Amino acid sequence: MSLALAHSRARVGVHAPAVRVEVYLSGGLPALNMVGLPEAAVRESRDRVRAAILCAQFEFPARRITVNLAPADLPKDGGRFDLPIALGILAANGVIDPNALSDIEFIGELALTGELRAVDGVLPAALAATNEGRRLIVPLGNGAEAALAGNVRAFTARTLLEVVAHLNGEKTLPPAIADRRVTTETTYPDLADVRGQGQARRALEIAAAGNHHLIFIGPPGGGKTLLAARLPGLLPPMDETEAMEAALVASACGQGVDPGQWRQRRFRAPHHTASAAALVGGGSRPRPGEISLAHHGVLFLDELAEWSRRTLDGLREPLESGVVTVSRAARAEEFPARFQLVAAMNPCPCGWAGDPSGRCRCPSEVVARYRARLSGPLLDRIDLHVAVPRLAAHEIRIDAPPGESTAVVRARVLAARERQQQRAGKTNARLSQAEAGRDCALEARDGNLLEQAMQSLQFSARAAHRILRVARTIADLAGCERIATAHLREAIAYRQLDRGVFRAAA
Ligand SMILES: Nc1ncnc2c1ncn2[C@@H]1O[C@H](COP(=O)(O)OP(=O)(O)O)[C@@H](O)[C@H]1O
Ligand SMILES: [Mg+2]
Repeated sequence: MSLALAHSRARVGVHAPAVRVEVYLSGGLPALNMVGLPEAAVRESRDRVRAAILCAQFEFPARRITVNLAPADLPKDGGRFDLPIALGILAANGVIDPNALSDIEFIGELALTGELRAVDGVLPAALAATNEGRRLIVPLGNGAEAALAGNVRAFTARTLLEVVAHLNGEKTLPPAIADRRVTTETTYPDLADVRGQGQARRALEIAAAGNHHLIFIGPPGGGKTLLAARLPGLLPPMDETEAMEAALVASACGQGVDPGQWRQRRFRAPHHTASAAALVGGGSRPRPGEISLAHHGVLFLDELAEWSRRTLDGLREPLESGVVTVSRAARAEEFPARFQLVAAMNPCPCGWAGDPSGRCRCPSEVVARYRARLSGPLLDRIDLHVAVPRLAAHEIRIDAPPGESTAVVRARVLAARERQQQRAGKTNARLSQAEAGRDCALEARDGNLLEQAMQSLQFSARAAHRILRVARTIADLAGCERIATAHLREAIAYRQLDRGVFRAAA
């Protein structure tokens, strides 16, 4: 009996736990048995591995072959183990020296022709292999992604035959390379394109400075989408840790990682017809959703009232914790999802409620039902509610002066963020209850003001706590140590949906 062992890695969430592929050849009737893989995956893998070995003109052992993937309780679906299984069989059969497999890890799906196909989750695997002190061989299509793992020693191959030649010392594989330096200055659209909308621009600046979630409400064509797309350009680029976390999500999604986008914050804008799985993650093989692809970036949900309530309910956990748990059958996988939410909606089904023209004809109960589609708990978590009215005629004129540019506003945002970093080591929106109690103290009379506002405008306690954090951000933008009355008043004014102002206007 002969035995060979090949190292590989599974993907669970954004992690890559080790998998041992053990191959035994023994006497008895020729057969290929696999242990530790789900039934359907076994059938497919068996066919691919056999065909790839034969296609590469190697002998397929006419003996009893047992392949064991350990540990047994890891998710091992997908074709990523084809390559280590094929190599294990060839090593056990004497085609490759079994010792050649000892300090290398292998990931890759085989086509029937023996060509290697890219798989998902290669970046986490490359990080883990490096930690283990092992080299890594991946399909050519995964090379750039593997190379992002810093000082990884990764090689790329196009076919099974090339891998065998490398292991036998006949022809060395090319190293995987990525060029992170291609990261260019960001190419986000500029705020200077937005005319008028002073209040909405101000709110966007506050949102950027304190990392607050925001919702724009207004008739079609006022510039809600225009404004939302300009948020990422106001934010500082991601740091290395954040960039790596965002890249791990993209890798788990099987999308590959674009080195040119390395530190750029993502702007994800799924359509309201997207399924719950597409938004928060899911599938038989759990994949991250849009909220995870927006990790450390911006998630834009346009037409918020058109989204299904059930789909939006999936946002609550991640909005609170920054992670989402995707469960499917017996398995649950966790993905990071720390995004900044920007939502937009019309004030009523026709979009014109509250417009001075009086052109809205929606009955008030229809308007009320439209608004009620947004759940209170979701709105509570959105710090800034901002009206984006129709532009006045003089603002639309082509010779009207342009607004401030992204560069100018961004400088103020970065200064305010620096203050927060110095004080708390995090942005105001992320302050815990205790930290907010310490950093967002109000003068006695301002405390009374907030209490009165809570009562007369019927804020939830959660909303009141959010107001304090926004007031802190406004003070930081003004360069003030303490929150002043004007800061608090402005923060309170950004909770219009709680106050039912739009309902009244309709
Ligand atoms: N404030 C604005 N400044 C400049 N252009 C605007 C503004 N508002 C709307 N527009 C123009 O109208 C188009 C539609 O704007 P959009 O942002 O999609 O509106 P909304 O999302 O509120 O329906 C934009 O592409 C832009 O050309
Ligand atoms: Mg729009």
